[in-house]
Amino acid sequence: MKIAIFGASGGTGLLLTNRCLAAGHQVTALLRSPEAFPLRHRVDAIYGNACDGHAVLKTVADSDVVLSALGARTWGKEDVLENAVPHIVTAMRQTGVRRIIALGSAGALPDSLDKQPFLNRWIVQRFVYNTFLKWPVASQVSQYATLSASGLDWTMVMPPLLNNAPGRGRYRIDGEALPRNGSRISREDVADFMMQQIDSPQWIKKYVYITW
Ligand SMILES: NC(=O)c1ccc[n+]([C@@H]2O[C@H](COP(=O)([O-])OP(=O)(O)OC[C@H]3O[C@@H](n4cnc5c(N)ncnc54)[C@H](OP(=O)(O)O)[C@@H]3O)[C@@H](O)[C@H]2O)c1
Repeated sequence: MKIAIFGASGGTGLLLTNRCLAAGHQVTALLRSPEAFPLRHRVDAIYGNACDGHAVLKTVADSDVVLSALGARTWGKEDVLENAVPHIVTAMRQTGVRRIIALGSAGALPDSLDKQPFLNRWIVQRFVYNTFLKWPVASQVSQYATLSASGLDWTMVMPPLLNNAPGRGRYRIDGEALPRNGSRISREDVADFMMQQIDSPQWIKKYVYITW
C-alpha cells in the first residue's frame, strides 16, 4: 500500500514508519527536518509543516491510508493538531483517500476515565488536565471533533502515558473508556495496534482506548 505518515520523526511515528517499510508499504512522510530523519532514504520525504495545507495535500495525494502520530513537542499551547488535522481532512476529501488512523490520547473525551477508581479520576480530571496537560488535552479534543465530523473512515487510538519500553504484545483495548487502572503503554505496542488497523474494519469511525 501507499501510506502517508504525519509525525514520522516522533517517538511513535518512527516506529510506525519502520513497521510500514518492513511490511513492504511505500511511505510518504511529511517532515520539518528531513535531513535529520534516519529513514529519509527509504521514504518519499516531503519537506514542510503539517499546518501548511499545500504540504499536507502533497503528502496525502495518491495514498491508500493515512497514519498520524502528530503532536506538539512541548506541553505548551502549540495548536499543532488544531491546525493540522483540518488540513489533513481537507486533503483526504480532495484526493478521495478515506482511511486515517490517528494517535490520540486517553484524556480526549469527558468519559475517558469513567472506568477509573474515583480518586484517580478526580485527581486527574480536576488537577492534571487543568494544569500541565491542559493544552495537550485541548488539542486531542480538537482532533477528535475534527475527525469524528469528517465523514472519513477514521480511527483514533487513545493511549494513556506512552513510554519507550519494549512492546509486550499484550494489552487491553476498550471502545468505551480507558480500562481500569490503565496508566501507561509502550509506543511499540501502540504502533503495532495502529498497524493492525490498516487491514481491519473493526474500529472504523470509532475511538479505541489501549493500555497495559
Ligand atoms: N507522550 C505521551 O505520554 C502521550 C500520551 C498519550 C498520547 N500522546 C499523543 O501521542 C502523539 C504522539 O506522541 P509521541 O510522543 O510519539 O510524539 P513526539 O515524539 O512528540 O513527536 C511528535 C511528532 O509530530 C511532529 N510535528 C509536530 N509539529 C509538527 C508540525 N507543525 N508539522 C509537522 N510535524 C510536526 C514532530 O515533528 P518534528 O520531529 O519536526 O518535531 C514529530 O514527528 C501526540 O499527539 C500526543 O498527544 C502522547
